[in-house]
Amino acid sequence: MTALTRYKFLFGTLSLLIIALLLTVGCTREQPSDEPPIHLNPDMDNQPKYKAQSESKFFADSAAMRQPVAGTVARGNLREDNIFYTGAIADSQFVKKNPVLINMQLLKRGRERFDIYCSPCHSRVGDGRGIMVTRGYVPPPSFHDDRLRSMPDGQIFDVITNGIRNMPSYRHQITPDDRWAIVAYLRALQRSRNAGLEDIPVELKDKVR
Ligand code: HEC
Repeated sequence: MTALTRYKFLFGTLSLLIIALLLTVGCTREQPSDEPPIHLNPDMDNQPKYKAQSESKFFADSAAMRQPVAGTVARGNLREDNIFYTGAIADSQFVKKNPVLINMQLLKRGRERFDIYCSPCHSRVGDGRGIMVTRGYVPPPSFHDDRLRSMPDGQIFDVITNGIRNMPSYRHQITPDDRWAIVAYLRALQRSRNAGLEDIPVELKDKVR
């Protein structure tokens, strides 16, 4: 056989096979059957496995999804520093001072996050008249009230983490680092509202009227 005839022969056989296949499929279509459809290439489609949230007959609590062994810590998730992650030394005993190093970069980050996450309710200046409030949301207190000015840094961190009364929690939207950045910026906001002459840099003092 020359290469060409071999090719023709192969092609012929293949076409016949395909036509036969199409005919079989054509005939079986639209005829109701209780049998499962023929699955020519299983391709690991059917495997003994559990789908998420499904029931299990094997485990006592019937849940196919298992909890990690108690005490398991995923890499990078060891949260030993209680103060950094909760703002508290012990139960509701909040740290007075932000544990994070405060510099201009942190304040800028805090301002950006504050404007995104807090200003819709608390407003950009923190007086509690954000756009949500003008549309009917419960008005939050002003950050410039004495009570909130003397609130420990750790407690503000805790309010962001867990929410309070009518304020939702922002635990999942804002990372702990960013929460501390927001706390630092909130302090700067409070200070700006109550700044005196002594807060103005010497070189700018004579510009103040
Ligand atoms: C969806 C609106 C909303 C957003 C967004 C919001 N707050 Fe609030 N916040 C409130 C309300 C309402 C209150 C008053 C809660 C109450 O007393 O019922 C409040 C109260 C507070 C208080 C005072 C808690 C107290 O002891 O009285 C602090 C501090 C605070 N918010 C910080 C923040 C910070 C920081 C952010 C941004 C990360 C933020 N909030 C985002 C609505 C909001």
